[in-house]
Amino acid sequence: MLNRRDSLKLGAVAGAAMLVPAGRLSAVFADDEGTASTPFTRALPIPPVLRPVSSTADHDLYDMTLAPTTASILPGLQTPLLTFNGSFPGPTIRARRGRASKVRVTNRMTTPSSVHLHGADVAPSSDGHPVDLIQPGESKIYHYPNRQPAATLWYHDHAHHIEAEQVYRGLAGLYLIGDAESDALGLPGGQYDIPLFIRDAAFDEQGRLLFTLDDFASRRVVLVNGAHQPFVQVRRRKYRLRLVNAANSRPIRLVLSDGGEFVRIASDGGLLEHPVRGTSIELWPAERAEVVVDFTNHATGSTLYLENVFNGPETPNRQLLQFQVGEPVPDPSRVPDTLRTHPDLGEPILTRTINMGRDATNTFYAINGLPYDPDRIDFRCKRGSTELWVVNNTDGQYNFPHSMHVHLVQFRVLDRNGVPVGPEEAYPKDTVRIPAGQTVRMLVRFESPFTGVYPYHCHFLDHSSAHMMAQLEVVP
Ligand code: C2O
Ligand code: CU
Ligand code: CU
Repeated sequence: MLNRRDSLKLGAVAGAAMLVPAGRLSAVFADDEGTASTPFTRALPIPPVLRPVSSTADHDLYDMTLAPTTASILPGLQTPLLTFNGSFPGPTIRARRGRASKVRVTNRMTTPSSVHLHGADVAPSSDGHPVDLIQPGESKIYHYPNRQPAATLWYHDHAHHIEAEQVYRGLAGLYLIGDAESDALGLPGGQYDIPLFIRDAAFDEQGRLLFTLDDFASRRVVLVNGAHQPFVQVRRRKYRLRLVNAANSRPIRLVLSDGGEFVRIASDGGLLEHPVRGTSIELWPAERAEVVVDFTNHATGSTLYLENVFNGPETPNRQLLQFQVGEPVPDPSRVPDTLRTHPDLGEPILTRTINMGRDATNTFYAINGLPYDPDRIDFRCKRGSTELWVVNNTDGQYNFPHSMHVHLVQFRVLDRNGVPVGPEEAYPKDTVRIPAGQTVRMLVRFESPFTGVYPYHCHFLDHSSAHMMAQLEVVP
């Protein structure tokens, strides 16, 4: 993985924002625990569910205001943030398949924004394209048809070149689509369905967020739903946890501290065909996983932890969340052996090669050697067709990780370096990790009815903000 020296080196060659001297950035939280707060004394916040301001026969209208605000994240300190409706993370929208949402976004910040619903099948005009901006003082209505199956999606800022900083400062939240098919499965729901929105941050002495493009090594405080090392009280029964890696550039590998099992039921774009059992979950930025965890066999009064062990047992800030196990309760929920039937994506009509890595002069992050240009169409893709994408991480020599995110679609990952990926990472995916020097092959089918221009990019947002983005046009 990237170490601090590599990241600084890259920052320098990338001509990224001026780097603050290393000693200064890391001064505040020199210890691995990160902050002076007493761990596990703050209850896990659950982002509020946004209520529609009006509803018609076929859609719900929501209001969102982007504005600067402050919140108490570290004890005794106020952290200035950029938020949706004053909430960090933003409020959760709960949509239903077959019923459209309209989201009216008003920008009360001093910078432009564009709001992207990550993982959604939407028209280009509502996709949050990087140059389709809402200027300060202006509003825009996004139209989300919600025609796709139940899924854990998230929305975030996507303004050209500044998405990394704006998402880092708070512009992100959850968008959950539900449907009758998944309701009928009997999975844990209601208060037993908990989102865990995970991201990292660096703070200064006054509690302000420090942001330097690409200096992710300094962002050592990991927050869950906006809180540092919170606790959550659980009953002795099954829970559904919706895990989102909402960090700009930090991959995580999650385990339970007792070595317990996760039953993975959903990936980025919704349910897997069958549950997948395992004891760790690797999520890179923007990837999601839904899991069922059963606390039945834990003693009342015991505790266990959700941990990040991406860098091994010595991973800084390893304990992310404490579960405090309470009394048993009747548990009618279940995890069926078959969750959903996946579509056949068909045979590819062509193969594309996509190289992700620094450009030859080492001045920016590139896709196929080029920096992002919103006026250039990199690929033209035929609606209704399937393509084979061969994505190479060409930064093996620098050990830089990248990922591939494609707007509009859910794709099928075939293999990584020729080794087939497991079912939990195959489909439905909208973001896939491409470790340094590796090659991922994936099938991309343009089955959406929409045509037009959509971005694809590395979802290390510090990379996409530094040009690692391109765009395709879906043509009839
Ligand atoms: Cu989550 Cu184009 O991004
Ligand atoms: Cu996206
Ligand atoms: Cu990248």
